Amino acid sequence: MAAYEYETHEYDVVVVGAGGAGLRATLGMAEQGLRTACVTKVFPTRSHTVAAQGGIAASLSNMGPDNWQWHMYDTVKGSDWLGDTDAMEYLAREAPKAVYELEHYGVPFSRTDEGKIYQRPFGGHTTEFGEGPAVQRTCAAADRTGHAILHTLYGQSLKQKAEFFIEYFAIDLIMSEEGECQGVMCWKLDDGTLHLFSAKMVVLATGGYGRAYFSATSAHTCTGDGGGMVARAGLPLQDMEFVQFHPTGIYGAGCLITEGARGEGGYLTNSEGERFMERYAPQYKDLAPRDYVSRCMTMEIREGRGVGKNGDHIHLNLSHLPPETLKLRLPGISESARVFAGVNLNKEPIPVIPTVHYNMGGIPTNYWGEVLSPTEDDPDRVAPGLMAVGEAGCASVHGANRLGSNSLIDLVVFGRAAAIRAGKIVNPDSAVPTPNPASVQAALDRFDNTRYAKGSTPTAELRLEMQQTMQKDAAVFREDKTLQAGKVAMDEIAGKWSDIQVTDRSLVWNSDLMETLELANLIPNAVATITAAAARKESRGAHAHEDYPERDDENWRKHSLTWFDDNKATLGYRAVHMDPLTNESEGGIDPKKIAPKKRTF
Ligand code: FUM
Repeated sequence: MAAYEYETHEYDVVVVGAGGAGLRATLGMAEQGLRTACVTKVFPTRSHTVAAQGGIAASLSNMGPDNWQWHMYDTVKGSDWLGDTDAMEYLAREAPKAVYELEHYGVPFSRTDEGKIYQRPFGGHTTEFGEGPAVQRTCAAADRTGHAILHTLYGQSLKQKAEFFIEYFAIDLIMSEEGECQGVMCWKLDDGTLHLFSAKMVVLATGGYGRAYFSATSAHTCTGDGGGMVARAGLPLQDMEFVQFHPTGIYGAGCLITEGARGEGGYLTNSEGERFMERYAPQYKDLAPRDYVSRCMTMEIREGRGVGKNGDHIHLNLSHLPPETLKLRLPGISESARVFAGVNLNKEPIPVIPTVHYNMGGIPTNYWGEVLSPTEDDPDRVAPGLMAVGEAGCASVHGANRLGSNSLIDLVVFGRAAAIRAGKIVNPDSAVPTPNPASVQAALDRFDNTRYAKGSTPTAELRLEMQQTMQKDAAVFREDKTLQAGKVAMDEIAGKWSDIQVTDRSLVWNSDLMETLELANLIPNAVATITAAAARKESRGAHAHEDYPERDDENWRKHSLTWFDDNKATLGYRAVHMDPLTNESEGGIDPKKIAPKKRTF
């Protein structure tokens, strides 16, 4: 039994993570008078949301007709009919309110000539329930929208007296015997002290797990820490097989080139100079949804029409755009292309390749952000004291494929929703729960076992093995043979945990130990991804299965659930929510408009 001293802290709410969702939740909780702490492993304005470029979707109608029902329809279709209908309605309805709130908080959006928020076209966002032309729905602050949002929300949270614990790494959730979350044990990276945060509500806003893959637009900090903690607490992860490949990561470097580049008029070409998306998607062209564009690019490369000396990537052309457009609307990617690809956008195309970008799956929640602990009798059972928002969570609003710019809006709509819900269910006058001593000890023991791990496999070696396996076997296109091989390989990698080697035993700025704890979080996310993917015998959204090329609603319109115990994954399923929040007589959407049909572009 490890003996460590730790400092104790008590709050109404503890938010873990300070990206867009974590900050929006923190701000909302603090605004309502809840004593709120935000614990984060990186400085808030360095969270991965800072890398979100192109914008945030909301039907403001600033650049042409639009409404929330069209946004909802596009989200439903984008999800390939796997999203929960109530959550998708909530997202689309609340989006304009959430964006105007951001504007009033001070986000410096780009402006139209009339001074309204500037909106650009993005993939899969249309009018007239998919029958009309593309719509300019994505609100932008040049191509640094996430950066602008983070700075604003951090400032506003400080103004509301939220307390920040910066460079604290969350080790494990503290759970009661009955399954209530009571807090989180953390390690302060700069002085090595341990801290037990007890709270009436813990909100996980820890982001995605892109770093389970070899090449990702995600920051190195995107290690699925929330998913790892939830898995260790015996709760499932949902829809993990759905991993988004962004069509335009810079070839070789993996950095994001925003879809906003195509929104502003950029287009993709193959080795024959052909604008091939016109052939695959006559209606949507280069602004088809991401899963489809990534598949089309991969097919062009496979069929020998890739560019470069190895014919293994595609060109994104922007040099025909007026230099003022590049300067005003796309300054960030102009710089990224110069630094990471040595390309002058005014003259040359950018070499791009589909790159892992986003996890549609995550910790299952309802649309208030409350974490679910489903049983057969009650698939929507809530785990008390625990919420998850942003990419860490799965509301499920993106289903099998997320539309571009629906991520930033997810962060703020559901961060805000969690705060609204906490305002109703967290009583500031009640006592903070007494942490379960067995759970506290289990967290300390795991920390100590990792710190003193004496195996022969260095963390970096096992991480690389995982990343290469995931890159190869859970790719844009999948087939039974490779998925099974990937599952066997990932099970072996998880099994090697007992042989992990940590060489630095210190507690102060020990990056060896921190990366090992991060790898312990990545592994259950990766195993869940490959296990759920190997089981799903259909193609839907980002899960393109070559042995089962069609979507199969009869058998597979259901969410996968993966529990992870003793380094092994167990699968289950729960039903998709088919009903909207409001019926037509209350101003809701006509259900016929969102009935499942084949996705065409
Ligand atoms: O392409 C982009 O700017 C990314 C946006 C998103 O993932 O929503």
